[in-house]
Amino acid sequence: MNDLHARIRTVARERNAVILAHNYQVPEVQDVADMCGDSLELSMRAARTEADVILFCGVRFMAETAAILSPDKTVILAAEKAGCPMADMINEEDVRRRKAERPDLFVLSYVNTTAEVKAESDMCCTSANAVQVVRTIDPERRIFMTPDRNLARYVIRCTGREMDYWDGYCVVHQRLTADRVKQVKAAHPDGLFVAHPECRPEVIDLADAVHSTSGMIALARESDHKKFIIGTETGLLYPLSKAAPDKEFIPADPGMVCKNMKKTGLPQVLNALERTAPVVSVPEDIRVRAKQAVDRMLAVPRE
Ligand code: 13P
Ligand code: SF4
Repeated sequence: MNDLHARIRTVARERNAVILAHNYQVPEVQDVADMCGDSLELSMRAARTEADVILFCGVRFMAETAAILSPDKTVILAAEKAGCPMADMINEEDVRRRKAERPDLFVLSYVNTTAEVKAESDMCCTSANAVQVVRTIDPERRIFMTPDRNLARYVIRCTGREMDYWDGYCVVHQRLTADRVKQVKAAHPDGLFVAHPECRPEVIDLADAVHSTSGMIALARESDHKKFIIGTETGLLYPLSKAAPDKEFIPADPGMVCKNMKKTGLPQVLNALERTAPVVSVPEDIRVRAKQAVDRMLAVPRE
């Protein structure tokens, strides 16, 4: 354990802070965190923590979701400028305009959205529960899913339900092409190809399994397979190797790196904890409306 790690743990104790890290964070940040997880697990944990301070190592929408769920806590984001380009592809005006055109729409927003977009939404979902969430929605309602076209197409594929969707995408997952996957599969014919639902449909066509980041970790732990080709951001390779050290994990494309997820290092974590800043807060009128959409998601039982 290095000095920074030890100092962070001491300050976290003094401040009664819980450190939550996304599965894409750099290894030393994952190691110093109280909990690592996918977006759904992090939201669930943020909703039920006893800590006074929630320090997020991830991107802004994750910290905002914690602020939406826990208004009595101080929520801080270790890297102030860590955003999500996909979340910024739609704003609340875009959603309002769509609803004005078709007032019967049921707006389903991926958690990778701003608090303002969540406030305009009927319900949220993550990559881990999007299919189950859609199965709970009244079949008479027309769903408009934001912002990820790839997640929407994946849900349509799984549920057979037609829906409208926004034309957003994750720049990191969009990078992975079917040709690239075919090459890696040819080089590793014994590898199980696991894709994240943010990947393009033609990549999903080639997948042996499709999972959220934590779903991939669970699969690696439980599966009899020894080799996996991983179709998501390369930060996941670290928790995968920790969960199943005897197995081999090959990145489908080593260039799948989310710059925003890499803005957090141990110095940023310590600095944020010592200053209790930058605080992420959501205006109360937006928070209350956004919370309804997040709460409806959290009420859906996990499979
Ligand atoms: P999950 O960890 O929820 O699968 O999400 C991936 C992601 O892109 C988060 O930014
Ligand atoms: Fe956003 Fe994609 Fe980065 Fe996740 S990996 S934070 S969806 S840009």
